[in-house]
Amino acid sequence: MPDKSTGTTETIPTHIAFIMDGNGRWGTRKRLPRLAGHRAGVQNLRRLAEDADKLGLRFMTAYAFSTENWTRPEEEVSGLMELFREYCGQFINDSRKNNIRIAFIGDTARFDADLRRRIDQLADVTKAKTGLTLILALNYGGRDDIVRAARRLCEDAAKGRLSPGEVTEAMFSGSLDTARFPDPDLIIRTAGEMRLSNFLLWQSAYAEFYFSDKYFPDFRIADLIEAIDRFNRRDRRFGGI
Ligand code: FPP
Repeated sequence: MPDKSTGTTETIPTHIAFIMDGNGRWGTRKRLPRLAGHRAGVQNLRRLAEDADKLGLRFMTAYAFSTENWTRPEEEVSGLMELFREYCGQFINDSRKNNIRIAFIGDTARFDADLRRRIDQLADVTKAKTGLTLILALNYGGRDDIVRAARRLCEDAAKGRLSPGEVTEAMFSGSLDTARFPDPDLIIRTAGEMRLSNFLLWQSAYAEFYFSDKYFPDFRIADLIEAIDRFNRRDRRFGGI
């Protein structure tokens, strides 16, 4: 049951996905390096996930590194990789006192062996948790997810395990990185931009969108509750009337 003490929301959506935008600007505004903004972003993500778990949210996805983010300056990319490395350990420490399962989507094969090992370890250590599932999207791109799913199905067809006419939407969904998770009900983007930026393209078919002007490091549980309240006032028809 949702913890009503934390807010006023009467229905908690099952899955909320975040485009955590504005970390760099948060740092710059405080005359700090952009990486300080990313660090504040991940600190906020930890706090928000714990608060969202208490609220009763089942799934939360966070867009932490996109397939396009490799084009950022080398210093920022390597700084983010170090942050991922460090926080894999921090999330393992946190898991001693919380009930959050952490899972990953994205093509992590491009990361170095040490980071891949830490990612696998974090997923393994938290896999039996029964509270919120926090899904970290790392080297994730919606188009890349779709292409990799198509490749898997083509490989099955080439091996004679599947004929092209048998491919269904459900089968395609089951070939995406998100196969184990429900589609997001609500996608929240911070920092005032209003675009999807190659996030969960297939999975967002019926998602509602909420845009906040706050930079991600400043987006708190009260803001999440406000987004959920707005979501609850919308009329979702899924193509019906
Ligand atoms: C977008 O803000 C944010 C990112 C590209 C990275 C977000 C990453 C984190 C919050 C770290 C997550 C870490 C873990 C361990 C999950 P931006 O840099 O584009 O901000 P700007 O638009 O103000 O420049």
